[in-house]
Amino acid sequence: MKPITLCGLLLLSSISLQAQTRHEQSLNTWQFSRDSLHWQTVSVPHDWAISGPFDKKWDLQVVAIVQNGEKEKTEKSGRSGALPWIGEGYYATSLNVGDMSGQRYTLEFDGAMAEPTVYVNGHKAGFWAYGYSPFRLDITPFLHPGSNTLAVSLRNQPESSRWYPGAGLYRPVKLVTMPVVSIDPWATFLRTEKADSASATLAFDTQVKGATGQEGWAVEVSLLNPKGWVEQAAHASLDQEGRVHISLPVANPRLWSPETPHLYRVAVTLYQNGSVVDAFHMNTGIRTIAYSKERGFELNGQARKFKGVCLHHDLGPLGAALNKAALIRQVKALKDMGADAIRTSHNLPSQMQMEVYDSLGMMVMAESFDMWRYPKCKNGYAQYFDEWSERDLTHLVLSNRNHPSLVMYSIGNEIPEQGSREGRDIAGRLQDICHRYDSTRPVTQGMDRVDAALKSGFAQVMDIAGFNYRVHKYDGAISQLPKGFLLGSETASTVSSRGVYKFPVRFKVASEEADGQVNGYDTEWCSWSNLPEVDFMAMEDKSYTIGQFVWTGYDYLGEPTPYDNYWPSRSSYFGILDLAGLPKDRYYLYRSVWNTQEHTLHLLPHWTWPGRERQVTPVFVYTDYPEAELFVNGKSQGRRQKDKTLRGDGPLVSTPELAAERAKRYRLMWNDVKYEPGELRVVAYDASGRPAAEQTVRTAGRAAAIKLKADRSTLHADGADLSYITVSLVDKNGTELPTATDYIEVEVRGAGTFKAICNGDATSVEVFTEPHMHLFSGKLVVTVQAGNAIGDIDVVVKDKKAKLQNTIKLKVAGK
Ligand code: GAL
Repeated sequence: MKPITLCGLLLLSSISLQAQTRHEQSLNTWQFSRDSLHWQTVSVPHDWAISGPFDKKWDLQVVAIVQNGEKEKTEKSGRSGALPWIGEGYYATSLNVGDMSGQRYTLEFDGAMAEPTVYVNGHKAGFWAYGYSPFRLDITPFLHPGSNTLAVSLRNQPESSRWYPGAGLYRPVKLVTMPVVSIDPWATFLRTEKADSASATLAFDTQVKGATGQEGWAVEVSLLNPKGWVEQAAHASLDQEGRVHISLPVANPRLWSPETPHLYRVAVTLYQNGSVVDAFHMNTGIRTIAYSKERGFELNGQARKFKGVCLHHDLGPLGAALNKAALIRQVKALKDMGADAIRTSHNLPSQMQMEVYDSLGMMVMAESFDMWRYPKCKNGYAQYFDEWSERDLTHLVLSNRNHPSLVMYSIGNEIPEQGSREGRDIAGRLQDICHRYDSTRPVTQGMDRVDAALKSGFAQVMDIAGFNYRVHKYDGAISQLPKGFLLGSETASTVSSRGVYKFPVRFKVASEEADGQVNGYDTEWCSWSNLPEVDFMAMEDKSYTIGQFVWTGYDYLGEPTPYDNYWPSRSSYFGILDLAGLPKDRYYLYRSVWNTQEHTLHLLPHWTWPGRERQVTPVFVYTDYPEAELFVNGKSQGRRQKDKTLRGDGPLVSTPELAAERAKRYRLMWNDVKYEPGELRVVAYDASGRPAAEQTVRTAGRAAAIKLKADRSTLHADGADLSYITVSLVDKNGTELPTATDYIEVEVRGAGTFKAICNGDATSVEVFTEPHMHLFSGKLVVTVQAGNAIGDIDVVVKDKKAKLQNTIKLKVAGK
């Protein structure tokens, strides 16, 4: 192996031309049918079920949810989203292929829901069982030059999921054309061996099938700077088995972290006797990770604790159909909250997700399974586990190990086998599979039966013992864990509905109420879970914890706890942000603790309560400042200080009394405020007692205008980019009407189309794909999609009842 320095620059700067030896084509346009009789043109990624209608009959499950402690079976109507995802679906498209000599053709699916069978020109080319797994098929033997037909049939079984899985070709499909002898990106592993701010060493390995060094085959790896110039390069000949190992020194590396997500572009080139045969580009981030008893988790030598969230894969009203703009919006809000990590619960992430996490800076726990051999639902993954788990896990590792954002694998979530010897053995075997292909990342899983998992040795096997909830068991567990640290792999499961406030405010385990909503004061949790304060304390006060992943960052379709038995209710209440992507108040509670770069000052509830005059209406403030004074119409309600004497050293059991007490460490609460219309104002004081910030909430009058706020006003003309427009009503002074439920109609004109609408109400059965919906707690979000041409978009929004209309203009610019 010889490092090439800058004098090799001229030779290497032609890499972008050489890369044309390989060609990737996204297969976006397909014909789709549910019955193979009636066909329509669709754009992939596509989710056939998201347009509804919502109905309790879809996937109606009569079950006891054992993980939730249920013993008796009851009817669970919205468990998997109450959308028509069950059954079969068919996709077809044509592939035009030129001269095939010397070429190989691979179809790449990043997942297909579910059980995809792929046919090329009528020949069965392959099958995959698990809907979340990426897989590739070499279809060269089935192709001929000219036009070819490609067909995919899918099948979704009832009772196969505990959440909304989506349906169809919901992730990208690509055709990759490459030379017969070529480099396989999945056989390629590029990683940081060591790094500090002065220097780093990257290690590169690959194996090329059908090539050896004796025949003159060699590989070159070049690190490019943002302008595309080669910063550093090295090459080496293949060995007898076609393998190559290259080590690449980098001076003054810019290290990757969530705060500085610096990526390097890397060119990989395969030569035979000096001629380029194959080439492609990949990204890498230079960073080190370490886990130890003494220092916990370290990124680039700095100890830190994961401020993570769990995410299911759906994108709210877009369903499971993957979209980059939607992912970016998701991550941006989480980063603003101060989060730095995502757990892809409970399944394999898409490549688009991983690319977004690499480039925006989110550390990732990439998960695989929600069950092994013992089913959590009748037709779940358990039926495939014995035959497929090794292949699925191998694909998890091979498809993701080149992403710098990936910091650990997860082999399971709340696996029923955790109390048994059999479970312990399976855990060891699955962990070994991860290690076989990637020795640089540790392996975890989320365990909920802490005592059983410790007794069977299941927890001790893991590189990282991850516990779901049961924070009161952490202290007892740590002395039995050989590694000396533990992870809150799933935390909180606090429940709330955005903008819904109920009185009297009580700290309690959530239960069903007539309106299908949960109190927005962030005071309710589940029998197995807790409020955010418990986890904040466990992270701050227990030195052996390495971080947490909150259940969940966003609300998701399905699992409407505590309304599992209630209709209509079809999406979760766990989210820190709602299904429309709007922050609940809880967002600011996390932000006040997690975002250490910017201040947070947030007041709740809203202050428009006709009929509550003189009634007790508690006011909470979420802020990073230690102290604040509250005023109602200028009258002081007193000055409050956070109670930092409250400690989380002992076992953190959750009772209503303890929850109310602990809240005083993180929330400022005025529990006796009497409502009078007007103005609620809070003034925050910094640590030295000086006024530092203030916030005011006012009583709203009658609706005078529609307010429209777009997250982005200029879109790319790529047929996929999105703008999210938040709609609300305001009075003549611009104060939002926080309880409005008006019916809103939308029309999109010009260079884009209406894509979806969502108000975050878990009990709504209004579909996401029709351009009208009621406001929920005064708001809804309209999603508009760019077309392929440059131009202007007018989004016209009407409220006929209030006789109001407003238009927002967006631009569609170049790609
Ligand atoms: C956990 C489970 C999650 C979700 C959550 C709700 O036990 O791992 O998938 O069901 O509970 O609180």
